Amino acid sequence: MLKNKIIIVTGGSGLLGKAIVKDIKLKNAIAINAELKKEAIADENTIICDVTSKDDVVNLLETVIKKYGRIDGIVNNAYPYTKDWGNKFEDVSLESWKQNVDMQLNSCFWICKNALEIMKKQKSGSIVNIGSVYGMIGPDFSIYENTGYAPSPAAYSAIKGGIISFSKYLASYYGEHGVRVNCVSPGGILNNQNPLFIKQYEEKVPLKRMANPEDISPAVSFLLSDESKYITGHNLVVDGGFTAI
Ligand SMILES: NC(=O)c1ccc[n+]([C@@H]2O[C@H](COP(=O)([O-])OP(=O)(O)OC[C@H]3O[C@@H](n4cnc5c(N)ncnc54)[C@H](O)[C@@H]3O)[C@@H](O)[C@H]2O)c1
Repeated sequence: MLKNKIIIVTGGSGLLGKAIVKDIKLKNAIAINAELKKEAIADENTIICDVTSKDDVVNLLETVIKKYGRIDGIVNNAYPYTKDWGNKFEDVSLESWKQNVDMQLNSCFWICKNALEIMKKQKSGSIVNIGSVYGMIGPDFSIYENTGYAPSPAAYSAIKGGIISFSKYLASYYGEHGVRVNCVSPGGILNNQNPLFIKQYEEKVPLKRMANPEDISPAVSFLLSDESKYITGHNLVVDGGFTAI
């Protein structure tokens, strides 16, 4: 059951975030979209928040507590990155690597740390961190060949692998307080990619298609809901079988 739960979704105006927010609302819970972009304000439940800002995150949690009195769930879904994200490995500077780890992994640490203390006091709560198949396996670079697309960056693998392991640590650390931490790791999501990329991706995946955002969002809702009350430290892979072979 997700009904009446208060759930924060970071980056809730993006490709996957929109579907997550929609699914949560469909299940009669309250979704609070924590978004960077001012133009992305979808409704009164959007809070402008830069997840890479220490103060914004503290303010976000305080605002939600002030309005609703509790936080039942958080989905760490936002996807901040530097301008040179996608540079080929040989051209990645140490500075850029550090910045992306800071923006994507350290921001997840900060949100989790602050939210978990609130949830510990409540003796309940569920965090879902969005991982990726690339946090589990190396990219198949042949999928990107002749497509004009930059292959997935090395930092992405390090960050998502880190998020998956970090979630397991938190599951173990906070389990005794009735708080759960899980990951959902999607495979590639369809987003107007060029036909060659789609073809090369589809050939590789057992279910022979890329994901739609709506393939992923119910898995997130499940881990937020009481239906998964005995599941923590899990990485729910929603990838059409991409990592099964
Ligand atoms: N798209 C895919 O194929 C895919 C596959 C696997 C995993 N993922 C993961 O899913 C998540 C969402 O990805 P997406 O494809 O929907 O990306 P997206 O770029 O469409 O959406 C990301 C959202 O995050 C917001 N955002 C960026 N920086 C922010 C910040 N500093 N603070 C708050 N919000 C910020 C953006 O404004 C945007 O609305 C990411 O964690 C990504 O790694 C995506």
